[in-house]
Amino acid sequence: MPELTDTTFKRIAEIARARWGLSLSEKKIPLVANRLTSHLRKQGGGTIDDFMKRMERNPSEEDMLLFFDLLSTNVTSFFRDPAHFAFLERELYVPLVRGTLAVPGRRLRLWSAACSTGAEPYSLAMQALELLPAEARFDIKILATDLSNKALAACREATYTETQLTGLSPERRARFLTKVTTPEGVKWRVKDEVRKLVEVKRQNLMEPFQGFGPFDVVFLRNVMIYFDRDTREALVRRMGSVVRAGGYLAVGSAETLSGLDVPFRPAAASIYVR
Ligand SMILES: C[S@@+](CC[C@H](N)C(=O)[O-])C[C@H]1O[C@@H](n2cnc3c(N)ncnc32)[C@H](O)[C@@H]1O
Repeated sequence: MPELTDTTFKRIAEIARARWGLSLSEKKIPLVANRLTSHLRKQGGGTIDDFMKRMERNPSEEDMLLFFDLLSTNVTSFFRDPAHFAFLERELYVPLVRGTLAVPGRRLRLWSAACSTGAEPYSLAMQALELLPAEARFDIKILATDLSNKALAACREATYTETQLTGLSPERRARFLTKVTTPEGVKWRVKDEVRKLVEVKRQNLMEPFQGFGPFDVVFLRNVMIYFDRDTREALVRRMGSVVRAGGYLAVGSAETLSGLDVPFRPAAASIYVR
């Protein structure tokens, strides 16, 4: 296996922090070495050092995104952290349907801000369809963004294997998915009724949010875990400018805003209100 020296790892970590906010600790050396090695093997060989020289010289956007994919993880699942969905049902959908939050033509805007392969935004869309009566004609849109081209392509494809559907009840599977036969075997495709609520876009969370918001709910889950404190604080402050007053920000169950100077206060476990 080509060796990943401490000096080269530091160069990798520098790019990852500057471009994507990722904070790579030295504990990540074996993982990064493994991923780079198998990438180089697939590309027909070469050393990590040569690869890094290419990345540092004048890499194309495409190369950089490939590099990002080698360093990040896309683990996700449908209805991950069910308590977040229960909270939205209780605090957002029930009052909306009862009318306390309802106004004619009410717009509901949600953002899955590190949407990975799509389980999160499609779960949000399924929940909205389940809880909002069709005749109420809410204007619902769910923005799904990520930086990874690979993840975004899967999100647009919206076709999942049996294993990727862990977390989805048989009732939801029957209502919202169709079985399809693909060259890789039987898979499940999210129905158009759900897909048409979701707009998929590329967004690096380190870059300005142009034309975004105001959102009723933002899911920023299991991504800040890779950022250092200052990056998290700056990002959540910017989230404050796109979440409407009284809107919610959900973070991963292992993440917290505690100790950050941000315009959100706790509303429930790992959920904050602006
Ligand atoms: C572990 S997944 C979380 C997916 C989903 N939010 C969930 O909780 O199931 C983390 C995602 O964050 C994305 N990500 C990491 N850094 C990012 C950045 N700077 N901008 C946008 N997305 C980023 C990765 O591509 C990956 O898809």
